[in-house]
Amino acid sequence: MRRIQDVLSQLYAENYIPKDDMIWLLENLDEESREQIFDYARKTRDKYYGNKVFMRGLIEFSNICSKNCIYCGIRAANKNVDRYRLTKDEILACCKEGYELGYRTFVLQSGEDKWYTTSKVADLISAIKELFPGVAVTLSLGERSYQEYKLWHEAGADRYLLRHETASRSLYEKLHPDGDFDNRRQCLYNLKEIGFQIGAGFMVGLPGQTYYDLVEDLYFLKELNPHMIGIGPFIPASGTPLGKEKSGKVEDVLIMLALTRLMVPKALLPATTAMGTLDPKGREKALMAGANVVMPNLSPIATKRKYQLYDNKICTGDESAHCRVCIEKRINSTGMEVDMGRGDSLIH
Ligand code: 5AD
Ligand code: SF4
Ligand code: FES
Repeated sequence: MRRIQDVLSQLYAENYIPKDDMIWLLENLDEESREQIFDYARKTRDKYYGNKVFMRGLIEFSNICSKNCIYCGIRAANKNVDRYRLTKDEILACCKEGYELGYRTFVLQSGEDKWYTTSKVADLISAIKELFPGVAVTLSLGERSYQEYKLWHEAGADRYLLRHETASRSLYEKLHPDGDFDNRRQCLYNLKEIGFQIGAGFMVGLPGQTYYDLVEDLYFLKELNPHMIGIGPFIPASGTPLGKEKSGKVEDVLIMLALTRLMVPKALLPATTAMGTLDPKGREKALMAGANVVMPNLSPIATKRKYQLYDNKICTGDESAHCRVCIEKRINSTGMEVDMGRGDSLIH
C-alpha cells in the first residue's frame, strides 16, 4: 500500500510521525511493511553505532523487594521465593570475574530493598570505581529520593535504569497497587537532571495493554529522550496475580523495538533476556530489529535462579564465562560484533 510506504519513509527520514499515523501504521502492518521497518531500524542503528553490540555485566545483588507489582515474580507477597542479599565482598567478586572476562560496565540491580542504604550503596560504588579502573557503573534499584540519587552520582555512578513500565496511567495503576505513576516519571526526570545517563523502558503484551498504550510509550520516550530503552515481552511469573496470563508476542516486541529505534535513533537498545526466554533466537531477532546492547548475567551461579522476575528465565544454570562465549556466537550470527568498551550513549 502506497500510504504505508510514505509513512515509513517519513519515519525513517525524520525520526518522527504524528501519533495518528503511528496508530494507523500499527493497525495496518503487513509482512512487507514489517520487513521494511526492521530494515530501516537496522540502517538507523548502523548509521549511529555501526555493527557493534555493547556488553553490560548484570549483577542481581538482592531479590528482596518491598513492592508488589502484580506481574513480577519477586514481588513482596510472593512467599515462594528464596530471598537473598549479596554482601559487598560477594558483589565485588562478581565484578572481578566480569572484569577479567572483559566487561567494562556493571549493572547493579535489585528489588526495592532499603537494607541497602544510601551510604552502603555509595560505598559500593566507590569501591567498584577504585578497584576496576575505567568501568561504568549502572544502578537499577528502583525509586529513591532526589538526594539519594545525587549522592550516588557524586560517588561515581554513571547510569541509572528505571523502566517507566508503561506510559498509560490507567494500566500503570492496575499493575502497581503500591505504585505512583507521577513519582516514577519524576524519578526519571530527576536522574536526568542530576546527570545520569538514564534508561527507561516498557513491557509489551501486558494483560489489557492495547496498541494505543504502546503508542503512548513511543511518544513518552520521544519526549524523555533517554540514553537507553529496555523493551521486553511480559512473561507470566508463577505465584503472582498474572501468573496464568499469556506472554507478550516476540513479533510485537520486535516491532516496538524497531519503531523505538526509528523514533529515538541514538538510544541504546538492549536485546533483552526476556526475548531470549520466549524464543531461543529472540535476542538475535532483537538485534536484527535495531537493538545494540546485551546484558549477560554475572550473578553468582547459586543466586541466578532465585532472581526470577518471570518463569523459565534463561542462563540461570550457566556460568558467566559460558554466557560470555555463547552470546558472542549469537551476536556474530547476526553479522554484528562484540564491543567490550563502556559503550556510552550518543545522547547527551
Ligand atoms: N515479565 C517481563 N518483564 C518483567 N519485569 C518484571 N517482571 C516481569 C515479567 N513478569 C521487568 C520490569 C522491570 C525489569 C527489571 O523487569 O520491566 O522493570
Ligand atoms: Fe519489586 Fe521491581 Fe519486581 Fe516491582 S518489578 S516487584 S519494584 S523487583
Ligand atoms: Fe547465557 Fe547463552 S547467553 S547460556
